[in-house]
Amino acid sequence: MVDGRTRVCGIIANPVEHTLSPVLHNIFAQELGHNLIYVPFKPEITGLDIAVKGAFALHVLGLNVSVPYKQKVIESLVAVEKDAKQIGAVNTLVRMENGYMGYNTDYLGLWRTFQEEEIILDGQEVIVFGAGGASKAVAYLCCKEGAKQVYLLNRTLKKAQELAAELNQTFQRDCVCAMQLSDYKEIPYKEHNYLAIQTSSVGMYPNGDQVILEDQEWYHCFHTAFDLIYTPAQTKFMQFAKAAGAKTYHGLKMLLYQGVIAYELWNHCTIPKEVVKKGYQMMERELHL
Ligand code: ATR
Repeated sequence: MVDGRTRVCGIIANPVEHTLSPVLHNIFAQELGHNLIYVPFKPEITGLDIAVKGAFALHVLGLNVSVPYKQKVIESLVAVEKDAKQIGAVNTLVRMENGYMGYNTDYLGLWRTFQEEEIILDGQEVIVFGAGGASKAVAYLCCKEGAKQVYLLNRTLKKAQELAAELNQTFQRDCVCAMQLSDYKEIPYKEHNYLAIQTSSVGMYPNGDQVILEDQEWYHCFHTAFDLIYTPAQTKFMQFAKAAGAKTYHGLKMLLYQGVIAYELWNHCTIPKEVVKKGYQMMERELHL
C-alpha cells in the first residue's frame, strides 16, 4: 500500500524498460515490511543533473544508476566513495545532508559473489576478457584483492593498455598485462590454472551463438570461468569452459548482490539470507531461467 509515508527509491537509466531492479527491490521492501517503493526513471542526458538534484529535493531515498549514466552522474554528486572514484563509475546514490554520495555496488556485488562461491582472487592468475566499463570494476577488484597477475584481453588493444596503465598506477605494482584478444596464445598455456572472467557483451541474448574465444582447446587452461552475462544462463563461453572441465558461473548473482548492497546502504539494514534468496528466485522467474 502506497501512503503518505512511503519512501521512494528508483533507477535512472536509458533505456530503462528491461531493468530487473524494481522487481528485486520491491520484493525486499515487501518481505522486510518496509514502506518503500522502487520505480524506473528515464531522463535524457541533458536532464540528468536536474533529475538527480530534483530527486534529492523530493527526498527520494536512494537511486541506482545504469547505462549510459554511470560515469556522467558523478558530476551531480556531493561525494564519491573511494573505490567508486578509482573505478570512475557509480551505480548507487545514497542520501547525505546536501546531496547524494556515489557508490559502486557492481564491484562490491561481484566481490560478495566471489566470496559466497569461494572464488579466490588472492595470488590468482586471472584472464579478463573485455576492457569496457564492466571490465574496469572487475580488474580493479582483482588487483585490490591481491591477484598475482591479470591478463586483460581486448579486441581494441589501446583500451586494454589504458586500463592496465591506470590500474598499475593505482596499485603501484605491475599487476595488469594488456593484450590484444587475438594474441591470447602468448599467455603461458597451463592446464586448469586460470580464473577467466568474461566481461564483454559477446554471447549475450539474442547472440547466444557468439563467443569471445573460439579456440576450445584453450578453455582447458581455466579452472573457473565466470561470465558476467546472465541471459542466456549458459553462454557459449560457459559451455566451452564446462566441456573443458572448468567450474562455470553466470552473472545473475552479481546483479543480485549489487542490488542487495544498494538496498542495505539505503535502509541501514542487513537483508536476511532467505529474503535474498527470494529476490534471486524472483529474478530467475522474470528471466525464465
Ligand atoms: P560495458 O560497460 O558493459 O563493459 P562497453 O564499455 O561497451 O560495455 O564494453 C564492451 C566490451 O566488449 C569491450 O571490451 C568491447 O571490445 P572493444 O573495446 O574492442 O570494443 C567488447 N566487445 C564487444 N563486442 C565485441 C566483439 N564482437 N568481439 C570482441 N570484443 C567485443
